[in-house]
Amino acid sequence: MKKFIKGVRFAPKNYSDEVEVKIQHYKKEGYKLPSRHLLRTEEQLAGIRESAKINTALLDYISTNIREGMSTAEIDHMVYEFTTDHDAIPAPFMYEGFPKSVCTSINDVVCHGIPSTKEFLRSGDIVNVDVSTIYKGYFSDASRMYMIGEVKPEMQRLVQVAKECRDIGVQTAQPWARLGDVGAAIQEHAEKNGYSVVRDLCGHGVGIKFHEEPDVEHFGKRGTGMLIVPGMTFTIEPMINMGTYEVFIDEADGWTVCTDDGLPSAQWESMLLITENGNEILTE
Ligand code: MF3
Ligand code: CO
Repeated sequence: MKKFIKGVRFAPKNYSDEVEVKIQHYKKEGYKLPSRHLLRTEEQLAGIRESAKINTALLDYISTNIREGMSTAEIDHMVYEFTTDHDAIPAPFMYEGFPKSVCTSINDVVCHGIPSTKEFLRSGDIVNVDVSTIYKGYFSDASRMYMIGEVKPEMQRLVQVAKECRDIGVQTAQPWARLGDVGAAIQEHAEKNGYSVVRDLCGHGVGIKFHEEPDVEHFGKRGTGMLIVPGMTFTIEPMINMGTYEVFIDEADGWTVCTDDGLPSAQWESMLLITENGNEILTE
């Protein structure tokens, strides 16, 4: 009998026999599969769900309270207070040096906007509020768009189509489909509407860490990329631009991602659990 090296643990069973059979089949066929630790155990899922519940409640709280004239620092304050009141931690805070508890991204800011006491929500703005929560060590992540006051019809349409892109991505993220199917479906819908999909930032695995494997690109080719397997938890968060998909990072703060042409960008983000017969939205 072979001996186990000291420290090797028995992994808890994290998928059914049916899933195991399919995994073995696809492995033989040479598909790219998620590594085993990305398939959540029941215990992990229970924690991730609790985290996600707080994250959704936080977005609902923001939806109720966001107002024209408010500074983005006030949004940050709401996020910090609500999260800590629920015994949770805002995941962005001090994440790789990010200085605030939430990302607030207005108009031509694509993502990772830093809240500021000097930045105010004005009529006509579209703003993405991206919140991520750590509860008992488990991570959740989602974002919504808000339209402030009177928003130009062409910007309203961008916000609407970006939401449709996210929803189409979610519908496509089925067990035993491929990540490339998700990207292709999103890209097709964006481009059909005359918009572009940001290439330089992607969705991601999330749950045990803030950002895990796999990368979830919002563009691509059907029938390519990693196989989507029950037990995976990841985000779909397409950034849709009115003009070019090219972006740059503001040198002054090292975070703020802006469109290259200064035209607006919109993003909605959901976090999903892949199940044996479909998927479940954990937070959005
Ligand atoms: N919430 C963002 C995402 O969707 C990540 C923000 S990282 C931060 O992945 F450091 F800017 F907070
Ligand atoms: Co995310």
